[in-house]
Amino acid sequence: APAPLVDQFNRRISYLRLSVTDRCDLRCTYCMPEKMQFLPRAEVLTLEELYDLSRGFMERGITKIRLTGGEPLVRRDMMQLVRAIGRHIGGELEELTLTTNGTQLGKYAGELAQAGVRRVNISLDTLDPAVFARLTRRDSLADVLDGIEAAQAAGLHVKINTVALRNTNQADLPAVIEWAHGKGCDVTLIEAMPLGTVDEDRIDHYLPLTEVQDDLEQQWTLRPSSHTTGGPARYFDVAETGGRLGLITPLTNNFCAGCNRIRVTATGQLYPCLGGGERVDLRAALRSDDPAGNLSIGLDQAMRIKPEKHDFHIDHAGQEPALPRHMSMTGG
Ligand code: GTP
Ligand code: 5AD
Ligand code: SF4
Repeated sequence: APAPLVDQFNRRISYLRLSVTDRCDLRCTYCMPEKMQFLPRAEVLTLEELYDLSRGFMERGITKIRLTGGEPLVRRDMMQLVRAIGRHIGGELEELTLTTNGTQLGKYAGELAQAGVRRVNISLDTLDPAVFARLTRRDSLADVLDGIEAAQAAGLHVKINTVALRNTNQADLPAVIEWAHGKGCDVTLIEAMPLGTVDEDRIDHYLPLTEVQDDLEQQWTLRPSSHTTGGPARYFDVAETGGRLGLITPLTNNFCAGCNRIRVTATGQLYPCLGGGERVDLRAALRSDDPAGNLSIGLDQAMRIKPEKHDFHIDHAGQEPALPRHMSMTGG
Protein backbone atom coordinates (compact mmCIF):
# COMPACT_ATOMS: atom_id res chain seq x y z
CA ALA A 1 0.00 0.00 0.00
CA PRO A 2 1.17 3.60 -0.58
CA ALA A 3 3.01 5.23 2.32
CA PRO A 4 0.98 7.21 4.87
CA LEU A 5 1.45 10.96 5.09
CA VAL A 6 4.10 12.10 7.57
CA ASP A 7 5.63 15.58 7.48
CA GLN A 8 9.20 16.58 8.22
CA PHE A 9 8.31 17.24 11.88
CA ASN A 10 7.11 13.65 12.16
CA ARG A 11 3.44 14.61 12.32
CA ARG A 12 1.11 12.01 10.89
CA ILE A 13 -1.49 13.68 8.65
CA SER A 14 -4.85 11.94 8.81
CA TYR A 15 -7.41 14.78 8.65
CA LEU A 16 -8.44 16.51 5.42
CA ARG A 17 -10.43 19.75 5.47
CA LEU A 18 -11.97 20.09 2.04
CA SER A 19 -13.62 23.34 1.00
CA VAL A 20 -16.29 22.58 -1.59
CA THR A 21 -17.23 26.18 -2.36
CA ASP A 22 -16.04 29.64 -1.38
CA ARG A 23 -19.64 30.91 -1.55
CA CYS A 24 -21.85 31.54 1.43
CA ASP A 25 -25.36 32.72 2.17
CA LEU A 26 -24.14 34.78 5.15
CA ARG A 27 -21.56 37.60 5.23
CA CYS A 28 -20.00 37.41 8.70
CA THR A 29 -18.12 40.64 9.26
CA TYR A 30 -14.94 38.94 10.56
CA CYS A 31 -14.91 36.57 7.58
CA MET A 32 -15.65 38.63 4.48
CA PRO A 33 -16.45 42.13 3.25
CA GLU A 34 -20.04 43.05 2.43
CA LYS A 35 -19.24 43.00 -1.28
CA MET A 36 -17.34 39.74 -1.37
CA GLN A 37 -16.04 38.73 -4.79
CA PHE A 38 -16.52 35.00 -5.18
CA LEU A 39 -14.49 32.81 -7.50
CA PRO A 40 -15.69 32.25 -11.05
CA ARG A 41 -17.44 28.88 -11.10
CA ALA A 42 -15.12 27.57 -13.82
CA GLU A 43 -12.22 27.72 -11.34
CA VAL A 44 -13.94 25.44 -8.85
CA LEU A 45 -13.47 21.67 -8.87
CA THR A 46 -16.40 19.59 -10.10
CA LEU A 47 -18.12 17.19 -7.72
CA GLU A 48 -16.43 14.31 -9.55
CA GLU A 49 -13.04 15.94 -9.06
CA LEU A 50 -13.76 16.53 -5.36
CA TYR A 51 -14.62 12.86 -5.02
CA ASP A 52 -11.55 11.65 -6.94
CA LEU A 53 -9.43 13.90 -4.78
CA SER A 54 -10.98 12.50 -1.59
CA ARG A 55 -10.30 8.97 -2.81
CA GLY A 56 -6.67 9.81 -3.51
CA PHE A 57 -6.32 11.19 0.02
CA MET A 58 -7.96 8.12 1.57
CA GLU A 59 -5.48 5.95 -0.31
CA ARG A 60 -2.73 7.85 1.45
CA GLY A 61 -4.10 7.28 4.93
CA ILE A 62 -6.55 10.14 5.42
CA THR A 63 -9.17 8.76 7.84
CA LYS A 64 -11.15 11.91 8.61
CA ILE A 65 -12.67 14.25 6.03
CA ARG A 66 -14.40 17.48 6.96
CA LEU A 67 -16.33 19.26 4.24
CA THR A 68 -16.22 23.02 4.66
CA GLY A 69 -16.61 26.20 2.62
CA GLY A 70 -17.72 28.88 2.46
CA GLU A 71 -20.96 27.18 3.28
CA PRO A 72 -20.77 23.59 2.01
CA LEU A 73 -24.55 23.15 1.83
CA VAL A 74 -25.00 25.95 -0.73
CA ARG A 75 -23.06 23.92 -3.28
CA ARG A 76 -25.48 22.47 -5.82
CA ASP A 77 -25.97 18.69 -5.63
CA MET A 78 -23.75 18.61 -2.57
CA MET A 79 -25.49 15.50 -1.21
CA GLN A 80 -24.17 13.50 -4.17
CA LEU A 81 -20.65 14.15 -2.95
CA VAL A 82 -21.55 13.44 0.67
CA ARG A 83 -23.11 10.13 -0.31
CA ALA A 84 -20.17 9.16 -2.52
CA ILE A 85 -17.59 9.86 0.19
CA GLY A 86 -19.94 8.41 2.83
CA ARG A 87 -19.71 5.00 1.17
CA HIS A 88 -16.10 4.79 2.41
CA ILE A 89 -17.08 5.13 6.09
CA GLY A 90 -16.26 1.96 7.94
CA GLY A 91 -13.68 1.13 5.29
CA GLU A 92 -10.62 3.36 5.05
CA LEU A 93 -12.62 6.36 6.29
CA GLU A 94 -13.37 6.68 10.01
CA GLU A 95 -15.30 9.92 9.93
CA LEU A 96 -17.01 12.25 7.47
CA THR A 97 -18.12 15.54 8.96
CA LEU A 98 -19.24 19.01 7.96
CA THR A 99 -18.67 22.50 9.23
CA THR A 100 -21.73 24.53 8.37
CA ASN A 101 -23.49 27.77 9.26
CA GLY A 102 -26.65 25.73 9.74
CA THR A 103 -29.03 27.72 7.56
CA GLN A 104 -29.72 24.76 5.25
CA LEU A 105 -29.68 21.99 7.82
CA GLY A 106 -33.45 21.96 8.16
CA LYS A 107 -33.44 20.63 4.62
CA TYR A 108 -30.37 18.39 4.67
CA ALA A 109 -29.84 17.02 8.20
CA GLY A 110 -31.75 13.81 7.53
CA GLU A 111 -29.91 13.10 4.30
CA LEU A 112 -26.56 13.78 5.96
CA ALA A 113 -27.29 11.29 8.72
CA GLN A 114 -28.42 8.75 6.14
CA ALA A 115 -25.15 9.20 4.24
CA GLY A 116 -23.18 8.23 7.35
CA VAL A 117 -22.38 11.63 8.86
CA ARG A 118 -22.45 11.38 12.65
CA ARG A 119 -21.28 14.82 13.74
CA VAL A 120 -21.58 18.36 12.44
CA ASN A 121 -20.00 21.60 13.61
CA ILE A 122 -22.42 24.50 13.38
CA SER A 123 -21.34 28.13 13.59
CA LEU A 124 -23.41 30.27 15.93
CA ASP A 125 -21.85 33.40 17.36
CA THR A 126 -24.84 34.79 19.25
CA LEU A 127 -28.45 34.06 20.21
CA ASP A 128 -29.39 37.73 20.10
CA PRO A 129 -31.28 38.40 16.83
CA ALA A 130 -30.00 41.96 16.51
CA VAL A 131 -26.39 40.97 17.12
CA PHE A 132 -26.78 38.02 14.74
CA ALA A 133 -28.12 40.29 12.01
CA ARG A 134 -25.29 42.78 12.46
CA LEU A 135 -22.61 40.09 12.61
CA THR A 136 -23.76 37.99 9.66
CA ARG A 137 -25.41 40.85 7.72
CA ARG A 138 -28.34 38.50 7.16
CA ASP A 139 -31.53 37.79 9.04
CA SER A 140 -31.16 34.02 9.33
CA LEU A 141 -31.02 33.26 13.05
CA ALA A 142 -34.34 31.39 12.99
CA ASP A 143 -33.12 29.20 10.11
CA VAL A 144 -29.94 28.36 12.00
CA LEU A 145 -31.87 27.45 15.15
CA ASP A 146 -34.22 25.30 13.06
CA GLY A 147 -31.15 23.72 11.47
CA ILE A 148 -29.69 22.85 14.87
CA GLU A 149 -33.02 21.28 15.91
CA ALA A 150 -33.16 19.29 12.68
CA ALA A 151 -29.60 18.06 13.11
CA GLN A 152 -30.31 16.81 16.61
CA ALA A 153 -33.59 15.27 15.54
CA ALA A 154 -31.69 13.39 12.83
CA GLY A 155 -29.37 12.00 15.51
CA LEU A 156 -26.33 14.09 14.58
CA HIS A 157 -23.95 15.17 17.33
CA VAL A 158 -23.73 18.94 17.17
CA LYS A 159 -20.76 21.07 18.16
CA ILE A 160 -21.38 24.79 18.24
CA ASN A 161 -18.54 27.01 16.95
CA THR A 162 -18.47 30.53 18.32
CA VAL A 163 -15.92 33.13 17.26
CA ALA A 164 -15.30 35.43 20.23
CA LEU A 165 -15.34 39.12 19.32
CA ARG A 166 -14.86 42.10 21.60
CA ASN A 167 -17.74 44.60 21.67
CA THR A 168 -19.74 42.31 19.41
CA ASN A 169 -20.77 39.00 20.95
CA GLN A 170 -18.51 39.15 24.01
CA ALA A 171 -21.42 39.67 26.39
CA ASP A 172 -23.44 36.88 24.72
CA LEU A 173 -20.85 34.14 25.19
CA PRO A 174 -22.12 32.74 28.53
CA ALA A 175 -25.67 32.59 27.14
CA VAL A 176 -24.55 30.70 24.03
CA ILE A 177 -22.58 28.23 26.15
CA GLU A 178 -25.40 27.69 28.64
CA TRP A 179 -27.98 27.25 25.87
CA ALA A 180 -25.81 24.81 23.93
CA HIS A 181 -24.93 22.75 26.99
CA GLY A 182 -28.62 22.65 27.85
CA LYS A 183 -29.20 21.01 24.48
CA GLY A 184 -26.37 18.54 25.00
CA CYS A 185 -24.03 20.25 22.52
CA ASP A 186 -20.32 20.87 22.99
CA VAL A 187 -19.20 24.43 22.29
CA THR A 188 -15.87 25.67 21.03
CA LEU A 189 -14.88 29.29 21.25
CA ILE A 190 -12.51 30.48 18.54
CA GLU A 191 -10.06 33.37 18.36
CA ALA A 192 -10.60 35.42 15.22
CA MET A 193 -7.72 34.97 12.80
CA PRO A 194 -6.55 37.71 10.43
CA LEU A 195 -7.34 36.00 7.12
CA GLY A 196 -8.33 38.13 4.16
CA THR A 197 -9.51 41.70 3.97
CA VAL A 198 -12.71 42.67 5.77
CA ASP A 199 -14.53 46.00 6.08
CA GLU A 200 -13.54 46.66 9.67
CA ASP A 201 -10.31 47.00 11.60
CA ARG A 202 -9.82 43.57 13.12
CA ILE A 203 -7.95 44.97 16.09
CA ASP A 204 -11.19 46.56 17.34
CA HIS A 205 -12.82 43.15 17.73
CA TYR A 206 -9.94 40.85 18.57
CA LEU A 207 -10.64 39.12 21.87
CA PRO A 208 -8.03 36.77 23.36
CA LEU A 209 -9.60 33.65 24.84
CA THR A 210 -7.29 33.96 27.86
CA GLU A 211 -9.47 36.91 28.80
CA VAL A 212 -12.73 35.07 28.07
CA GLN A 213 -11.58 32.11 30.13
CA ASP A 214 -10.78 34.40 33.08
CA ASP A 215 -14.25 35.96 32.81
CA LEU A 216 -16.02 32.61 32.58
CA GLU A 217 -14.11 31.32 35.59
CA GLN A 218 -15.71 34.09 37.64
CA GLN A 219 -19.02 32.28 37.33
CA TRP A 220 -18.13 28.69 36.42
CA THR A 221 -15.66 25.96 37.33
CA LEU A 222 -13.69 24.82 34.28
CA ARG A 223 -11.86 21.53 34.64
CA PRO A 224 -9.41 20.45 31.91
CA SER A 225 -10.85 17.47 30.05
CA SER A 226 -9.04 14.71 28.21
CA HIS A 227 -11.73 14.78 25.50
CA THR A 228 -10.35 15.20 21.99
CA THR A 229 -11.75 15.03 18.45
CA GLY A 230 -8.44 15.29 16.61
CA GLY A 231 -9.09 19.00 16.06
CA PRO A 232 -7.28 22.00 17.57
CA ALA A 233 -9.61 22.59 20.56
CA ARG A 234 -8.52 22.07 24.18
CA TYR A 235 -11.57 20.98 26.16
CA PHE A 236 -12.84 21.77 29.62
CA ASP A 237 -15.77 20.36 31.57
CA VAL A 238 -17.99 23.08 32.98
CA ALA A 239 -19.16 21.84 36.37
CA GLU A 240 -22.26 24.05 36.60
CA THR A 241 -23.68 23.32 33.13
CA GLY A 242 -22.50 19.73 32.87
CA GLY A 243 -21.29 20.49 29.32
CA ARG A 244 -18.00 20.62 27.49
CA LEU A 245 -16.28 23.81 26.38
CA GLY A 246 -13.42 23.85 23.88
CA LEU A 247 -10.98 26.69 23.26
CA ILE A 248 -9.33 27.21 19.88
CA THR A 249 -6.47 29.60 20.48
CA PRO A 250 -4.36 30.15 17.37
CA LEU A 251 -3.14 33.50 18.73
CA THR A 252 -2.71 33.00 22.47
CA ASN A 253 -1.75 29.33 22.68
CA ASN A 254 -0.25 27.67 19.65
CA PHE A 255 -1.45 24.14 18.99
CA CYS A 256 0.57 23.37 15.86
CA ALA A 257 2.80 20.71 17.47
CA GLY A 258 -0.16 18.34 17.39
CA CYS A 259 -1.25 19.23 13.86
CA ASN A 260 -2.69 16.32 11.89
CA ARG A 261 -4.40 18.32 9.12
CA ILE A 262 -4.12 19.69 5.64
CA ARG A 263 -6.69 21.66 3.70
CA VAL A 264 -7.72 21.94 0.08
CA THR A 265 -9.59 24.89 -1.41
CA ALA A 266 -12.54 24.62 -3.75
CA THR A 267 -10.12 25.24 -6.62
CA GLY A 268 -7.95 22.29 -5.62
CA GLN A 269 -5.10 24.20 -3.99
CA LEU A 270 -3.62 22.25 -1.12
CA TYR A 271 -2.47 24.46 1.76
CA PRO A 272 -0.36 22.41 4.16
CA CYS A 273 -0.99 25.10 6.81
CA LEU A 274 -3.88 27.50 7.37
CA GLY A 275 -1.32 30.07 8.40
CA GLY A 276 0.36 30.48 5.05
CA GLY A 277 3.33 29.09 3.22
CA GLU A 278 3.49 27.43 -0.14
CA ARG A 279 0.65 25.52 -1.72
CA VAL A 280 0.39 22.57 -4.08
CA ASP A 281 -1.82 22.71 -7.18
CA LEU A 282 -3.88 19.52 -7.05
CA ARG A 283 -6.27 20.73 -9.73
CA ALA A 284 -3.44 20.50 -12.23
CA ALA A 285 -2.73 16.99 -10.94
CA LEU A 286 -6.39 16.00 -11.25
CA ARG A 287 -6.56 17.33 -14.81
CA SER A 288 -3.30 15.66 -15.90
CA ASP A 289 -2.94 12.38 -17.81
CA ASP A 290 -2.16 10.49 -14.58
CA PRO A 291 -4.46 11.98 -11.91
CA ALA A 292 -3.92 9.32 -9.22
CA GLY A 293 -0.14 9.30 -9.66
CA ASN A 294 0.23 13.05 -9.75
CA LEU A 295 -2.10 13.52 -6.80
CA SER A 296 0.07 11.21 -4.73
CA ILE A 297 3.21 13.10 -5.83
CA GLY A 298 1.48 16.34 -4.82
CA LEU A 299 0.79 14.93 -1.37
CA ASP A 300 4.43 13.94 -0.91
CA GLN A 301 5.42 17.46 -1.86
CA ALA A 302 2.97 18.88 0.68
CA MET A 303 4.63 16.79 3.40
CA ARG A 304 8.01 18.33 2.52
CA ILE A 305 6.77 21.93 2.68
CA LYS A 306 4.33 21.83 5.62
CA PRO A 307 5.62 24.50 8.02
CA GLU A 308 6.25 23.83 11.68
CA LYS A 309 3.60 26.33 12.78
CA HIS A 310 1.42 29.22 11.74
CA ASP A 311 2.50 32.71 12.52
CA PHE A 312 -0.69 34.60 13.41
CA HIS A 313 -0.13 37.65 15.58
CA ILE A 314 -2.67 40.23 16.41
CA ASP A 315 -0.29 42.97 15.27
CA HIS A 316 -1.22 41.64 11.85
CA ALA A 317 -4.80 42.43 12.55
CA GLY A 318 -4.93 46.05 11.53
CA GLN A 319 -5.75 47.08 7.98
CA GLU A 320 -3.31 44.62 6.45
CA PRO A 321 -4.37 41.02 6.96
CA ALA A 322 -1.68 38.49 7.89
CA LEU A 323 -2.75 36.51 4.85
CA PRO A 324 -4.43 37.72 1.69
CA ARG A 325 -6.87 34.82 1.38
CA HIS A 326 -10.16 34.53 3.24
CA MET A 327 -11.10 31.66 5.53
CA SER A 328 -14.07 31.00 3.22
CA MET A 329 -11.80 29.84 0.43
CA THR A 330 -9.29 28.02 2.62
CA GLY A 331 -11.82 26.06 4.65
CA GLY A 332 -10.29 26.85 8.06
P1 GTP B 1 -13.48 18.81 15.29
O1 GTP B 1 -13.39 17.64 14.42
O2 GTP B 1 -14.83 18.91 15.92
O3 GTP B 1 -12.36 18.95 16.26
O4 GTP B 1 -13.43 20.06 14.30
P2 GTP B 1 -12.42 21.26 14.10
O5 GTP B 1 -12.42 22.13 15.30
O6 GTP B 1 -11.12 20.71 13.62
O7 GTP B 1 -13.12 21.98 12.87
P3 GTP B 1 -14.00 23.28 12.67
O8 GTP B 1 -14.28 23.31 11.22
O9 GTP B 1 -15.14 23.27 13.59
O10 GTP B 1 -13.01 24.44 12.99
C1 GTP B 1 -13.07 25.21 14.15
C2 GTP B 1 -12.06 26.32 14.03
O11 GTP B 1 -10.77 25.79 14.12
C3 GTP B 1 -12.14 27.11 12.74
O12 GTP B 1 -12.06 28.48 13.01
C4 GTP B 1 -10.91 26.66 12.01
O13 GTP B 1 -10.43 27.67 11.18
C5 GTP B 1 -9.97 26.39 13.15
N1 GTP B 1 -8.92 25.46 12.73
C6 GTP B 1 -9.06 24.17 12.36
N2 GTP B 1 -7.86 23.65 12.03
C7 GTP B 1 -6.96 24.64 12.21
C8 GTP B 1 -5.55 24.74 12.04
O14 GTP B 1 -4.89 23.78 11.65
N3 GTP B 1 -4.97 25.92 12.31
C9 GTP B 1 -5.67 26.99 12.74
N4 GTP B 1 -5.00 28.10 13.00
N5 GTP B 1 -7.00 26.95 12.90
C10 GTP B 1 -7.63 25.80 12.66
N1 5AD C 1 -11.06 33.61 12.29
C1 5AD C 1 -11.54 32.62 13.07
N2 5AD C 1 -12.59 31.87 12.77
C2 5AD C 1 -13.20 32.14 11.61
N3 5AD C 1 -14.26 31.57 11.04
C3 5AD C 1 -14.47 32.18 9.86
N4 5AD C 1 -13.57 33.15 9.64
C4 5AD C 1 -12.76 33.15 10.73
C5 5AD C 1 -11.64 33.92 11.13
N5 5AD C 1 -11.14 34.89 10.34
C6 5AD C 1 -14.99 30.48 11.69
C7 5AD C 1 -16.44 30.35 11.35
C8 5AD C 1 -16.71 28.88 11.57
C9 5AD C 1 -15.36 28.23 11.50
C10 5AD C 1 -15.20 27.23 10.43
O1 5AD C 1 -14.42 29.27 11.30
O2 5AD C 1 -17.27 31.12 12.16
O3 5AD C 1 -17.27 28.62 12.82
FE1 SF4 D 1 -20.24 32.23 5.74
FE2 SF4 D 1 -18.90 30.99 7.69
FE3 SF4 D 1 -17.83 33.12 6.53
FE4 SF4 D 1 -20.00 33.41 8.08
S1 SF4 D 1 -17.93 32.70 8.73
S2 SF4 D 1 -19.68 34.34 6.06
S3 SF4 D 1 -21.09 31.57 7.70
S4 SF4 D 1 -18.22 31.18 5.55
